[in-house]
Amino acid sequence: MNLSRRNLFRSMLAAGATLPFHGEAALAQLSMVSNIPADAVKINANENPMGPCPEAAEAIYSVVKKGGRYLYEETFIFQKALADQEGVKPNYVQAYAGSSLPLHHAVMAFTGAAKSFVTADPGYEAGERAAQFIGAKVHGIPLRPDYSHDVRKMAAIPDAGLIYICNPNNPTGTLTSRQDIEWLVANKPAGCVVMVDEAYIHIAGAQAVTDLVAAEKDVIVLRTFSKLYGMAGLRAGAAIARPDLLEKIRPFHAGALPVTGMVGATASLRAPNLVPERRKIIKDIREQTFAFLDQRKFKYVPSVSNKFMLDVGRPGREVIRAMAAEKVYIGRVWPSWPNYVRVTIGTREDMASFQAALLKVMNT
Ligand SMILES: Cc1ncc(COP(=O)(O)O)c(C=O)c1O
Repeated sequence: MNLSRRNLFRSMLAAGATLPFHGEAALAQLSMVSNIPADAVKINANENPMGPCPEAAEAIYSVVKKGGRYLYEETFIFQKALADQEGVKPNYVQAYAGSSLPLHHAVMAFTGAAKSFVTADPGYEAGERAAQFIGAKVHGIPLRPDYSHDVRKMAAIPDAGLIYICNPNNPTGTLTSRQDIEWLVANKPAGCVVMVDEAYIHIAGAQAVTDLVAAEKDVIVLRTFSKLYGMAGLRAGAAIARPDLLEKIRPFHAGALPVTGMVGATASLRAPNLVPERRKIIKDIREQTFAFLDQRKFKYVPSVSNKFMLDVGRPGREVIRAMAAEKVYIGRVWPSWPNYVRVTIGTREDMASFQAALLKVMNT
């Protein structure tokens, strides 16, 4: 970090600013109306009710008793397993406890007073919050009518330091085409980095862009084990990029990674058929939910992910509050789409409760 950036951080912290550790759980908290009762339906934070797969749980149980040691080798084993699966060299993978940290660190490394952060609107807000914290300008570019990222408008920001593409997008659950991402990488301003956040890529079954990393492009791919792999509370994730890009974000991190998260992630990667099986489970529940919404003539954004945006035709906050009174906790509202609420796909039982509460709250 250069001296002026360091001084900027120092003066912000001295002025009482707190570090913006916003993740989905913290952001979900912001839309909560009260404490969530233990028996409530929680479809507010894009979590996976299936939890870790049995292989991951087994690996975690057996490593616990060795937890008195740092066991750095488990991090290297995880990095190698992910690198092999993605077709990149092991030094192109940096493990983290989830993907929130590399997202924050990349914002700190690649944006600042003279380099802006470019994101979609509505988009996942964590990067934008980090950019605001360090005083970088944020450009929120509205999604196109087909709900994909407007890569042409994003590439047209001349001082962009980091262009953030969430694919599929959070909150809409919609995809941006491979062709558009390739176009963006080829046409972005010189010196800027494209970050592709693939937190939900396995759920969508879309093609990843880790091959662009293998092709040495200015691309950082983010992965998390919090979604399809069901390890949000166990914490594992990675940044996948050229070593010179990883070198720029690594100095913001310190300390060992939780060995429970590392062994769980490795076991998840090795579990046969886990990805297609879970993708199908989520897809079936999503389609059943959409069939209900169609039948009842609700409007929603067609998603390929584990969440969707529902048009409630009135201030979404009111509906969130009314649903919470029915003990169904749905996701938040984005300021640019005030009449939409985000709903996570939960279990079949969760979605049955959601449907009953929605009919009651919407008076249909
Ligand atoms: C798009 C996106 N990126 C990153 C994250 C960070 O999650 P985690 O830190 O649990 O990996 C989330 C969490 O929901 C997310 O939705």
